[in-house]
Amino acid sequence: TAVAAVIPAAGRGVRLGPGAPKALRALNGTPMLIHAVRALAASRHVSLVIVVAPPDGAAEVKSLLDAHALPERTDFLVVPGGESRQESVRLGLDALPPEYGVVLVHDAARPLVPVDTVDAVVEAVRAGAPAVVPALPLADTVKEVAPAATAGDPEPVVATPERARLRAVQTPQGFDRATLLRAHETVTEDVTDDASMVEQLGLTVVAVPGHEEAFKVTRPLDLVLAEAVLARRRL
Ligand code: C5P
Repeated sequence: TAVAAVIPAAGRGVRLGPGAPKALRALNGTPMLIHAVRALAASRHVSLVIVVAPPDGAAEVKSLLDAHALPERTDFLVVPGGESRQESVRLGLDALPPEYGVVLVHDAARPLVPVDTVDAVVEAVRAGAPAVVPALPLADTVKEVAPAATAGDPEPVVATPERARLRAVQTPQGFDRATLLRAHETVTEDVTDDASMVEQLGLTVVAVPGHEEAFKVTRPLDLVLAEAVLARRRL
């Protein structure tokens, strides 16, 4: 069954500082979104990439895709995004042609995901999992905090989940088409990833090994790291 990738790229990237929408900012001279599209199109499994552009930026994104060399065996669609990541993904799914039975959802903000990670996610879905996430163990201990009594005061720590059982989850996340569509029709609360919507349906989501280079470009330091990774790859 054919595999399509939806790439939400409509976020403003406020945490990265002022400037263009995050996905359109350059890494070593090439927009982050183009790196992300290439990373997904590098998988022989992926035959369609649906890019969800900033709401007023679909034309700009279309011409960017036309201007960069992308694999011929991959088709591209561009649709305008929405207010939240979740809405942007749903708008991308609305454009999904019926012949695609497996769907990947990949953040434009993870431009350097290696193709082996993409392939591992696809293979786990094809092996029968309704939802698959790439995940890594944590270096930091994680604590749950409660709101401070007064804004600006230190926050009381209320719990320390056992680190060995926690994972940091990346993208692409992979889904059986019907499962992902049902999740987006059913779940209305705000979520930060697509797999959690499938969990809310009561289905089992499985984790495969993620990759350090699939990190999310969120803050200014991440741009420095991403350019260093690209420089190392060119050696
Ligand atoms: O903000 P965050 O880093 O979680 O965004 C993850 C991905 O979701 C980014 O690629 C961003 O462009 C995308 N997004 C979107 N539409 C929004 C908000 C975020 O496509 N309204």
